[in-house]
Amino acid sequence: MSSLLDRKFCVAPMMQYTDMHDRYLLRLISKKIFLYTEMISTGSLIYGKCYDQLEFNNEEHPVGVQLGGSDINDLIECSKKCEQYGYDEINLNVGCPSDRVQKGKFGACLMLEPHLVSECLSNMQNAVKIPVSIKCRLGIDNHESYEFLHNFISIVKNSGTNIFIIHARNGILNGLSPRQNRNIPPLKYEYVYKLKKDFPELEIIINGGIKNLDDSKNHLDKVDGVMIGRAAYDNPFMLKDIEPMFYDIKSQTNSKKEILNLYLEYVEEKIDQGHNLSRMMKHLFGLSRGDKYAKSFRIKILEIIKNNSIKEHKKELEELLVY
Ligand SMILES: Cc1cc2nc3c(=O)[nH]c(=O)nc-3n(C[C@H](O)[C@H](O)[C@H](O)COP(=O)(O)O)c2cc1C
Repeated sequence: MSSLLDRKFCVAPMMQYTDMHDRYLLRLISKKIFLYTEMISTGSLIYGKCYDQLEFNNEEHPVGVQLGGSDINDLIECSKKCEQYGYDEINLNVGCPSDRVQKGKFGACLMLEPHLVSECLSNMQNAVKIPVSIKCRLGIDNHESYEFLHNFISIVKNSGTNIFIIHARNGILNGLSPRQNRNIPPLKYEYVYKLKKDFPELEIIINGGIKNLDDSKNHLDKVDGVMIGRAAYDNPFMLKDIEPMFYDIKSQTNSKKEILNLYLEYVEEKIDQGHNLSRMMKHLFGLSRGDKYAKSFRIKILEIIKNNSIKEHKKELEELLVY
């Protein structure tokens, strides 16, 4: 399904990181980025009745939800639910290498089952009007050739899905932890560039190891979009340059202090609704990245969490940011 949404810059789905609060913070910094939820398994939605995992803020749009699963009926049910909640896109996770996920027969192990992935995606797409996308790896274990990836995409694209987010590394299912799987298998960006050449009709978004907007610029000469994960979390303020650098729009984000104050207003509101202070505040750690008082800023945040004292320490926290 073709889509008018702009995915030139995406922030990667990251469990325990890109929750609704982090996404709210990121949206304060850039209006243009495309956001994704953490992976939500169909099992926890349907059988755990954890539909509150789907909660998000209106300000987050455009935002996609990432599902993990491989049971077609469950994926259909969850896709419908996600559309009702108001998400802009549904993404299927075919990249997570964790043991738990493998046992559930979803995530990266599905790279070996392109026909099943294709069936899942076409059923999901038939169930909803919003676009359905996939996030996958280059291959898994010793399936390392470009031909393997080419074959996977050739089959999966028959589902009608044309948005492919590719983490440019193999997944290693036995022997490496999820964390190691994000660092040890070598990045092969050239495979992703070649995919775009071989399938120009597909929207190809490259992911893995992208550190900053200058690197992004180089990738964008060859593919349709970039997805940044850890670098965006560790230093969210770098996203403020997306508008001026890539859209010729003056950034609306003036200073870190302004972002901090807007976010703290949000946190105070959410505390009243029963959200967890620590979960919300930890997303601020990266805001002081590179600043003179970065360490003191982080210590002050911990103090605020411990004493539940935003009001009392707001000003001090602001003063620890350089601008
Ligand atoms: C803490 C953490 C949690 C992650 N959780 C998910 C997830 O839920 N779904 C997913 O597709 N990828 C997940 N990833 C992988 C990222 O989306 C991304 O593919 C990977 O970090 C490589 O991009 P980067 O080098 O820009 O961080 C996670 C990564 C991290 C660091």
